[in-house]
Amino acid sequence: MNSMAYIIAVANQKGGVGKTTTAVNLAAYLAAKGRFVLFVDLDPQGNATSSLGVDRRQVEKGLYEALIGACSVRETVRPTVVEGLKLIPATSALAGAAVELVDMERREFRLANVLLEVRNDYDYVIIDCPPSLGLLTLNGLVAADRVLIPVQAEYFALEGLSQLHETVGAVRESLRPGLEIMGTVITMFDPRNRLAIDVLAEIKANFPSRVFASVIPRNVRLAEAPSHGQPISHYDPWSKGAKAYESLALEILEIDEKT
Ligand SMILES: Nc1ncnc2c1ncn2[C@@H]1O[C@H](COP(=O)(O)OP(=O)(O)O)[C@@H](O)[C@H]1O
Ligand SMILES: [Mg+2]
Repeated sequence: MNSMAYIIAVANQKGGVGKTTTAVNLAAYLAAKGRFVLFVDLDPQGNATSSLGVDRRQVEKGLYEALIGACSVRETVRPTVVEGLKLIPATSALAGAAVELVDMERREFRLANVLLEVRNDYDYVIIDCPPSLGLLTLNGLVAADRVLIPVQAEYFALEGLSQLHETVGAVRESLRPGLEIMGTVITMFDPRNRLAIDVLAEIKANFPSRVFASVIPRNVRLAEAPSHGQPISHYDPWSKGAKAYESLALEILEIDEKT
């Protein structure tokens, strides 16, 4: 498709809003549609790594080793249960990277540099960011072309969103010109909850960037899939959650093929 991958950082400094679920299942459906996809687990918790069927205790070389230059990035890339989807796994050592990177040269550019080596092999690189605006997330934003923001449809959803937009703006000005906000995806939506509908309207009113038409419903199958080490495309492709993430992937492919 492309000579160089689109790099998408999935970010929101709030925890538990559906970043990892969105990153994993979007990546799986982009791969299912025939794209070559590389998943980068930038969260030391490694939830995405285990969601993709990789036991991080068995990982010897992961993102941490590549970031500090202890090995080449190609040594860290491994297959997943999904054909066409490769993974750079996180290990718990990554938690220390946030501290170690502080003293390193061009510390905000470590991930961007690591990905330069492999991005030509893929159509998409999906980065799952940790729940903070710290140095790891900064590396994710600097490495990215676009930021995808999952937002849980609940009362405090808008809190922190302005800060995230400001951070992206600051990164664009000083570190990564051209970084774009791709859009917001509403997660864990419950249409019976009036509040959720208000939140959706408020996000549309307050932020100029796109809100994806594909809204992700609250769906227990999405919550179950990680413990089976499978994305929803494999665990239960007929579930509502699966259909929603498939639709999000198609929406993104359609946007990309137009531009
Ligand atoms: N649409 C959904 N329906 C039901 N549970 C969900 C949904 N999205 C995420 N979850 C669950 O909510 C929790 C937080 O989601 P997660 O993707 O890990 O968020 P984050 O990466 O932002 O911390 C997880 O237990 C996940 O399985
Ligand atoms: Mg997460």
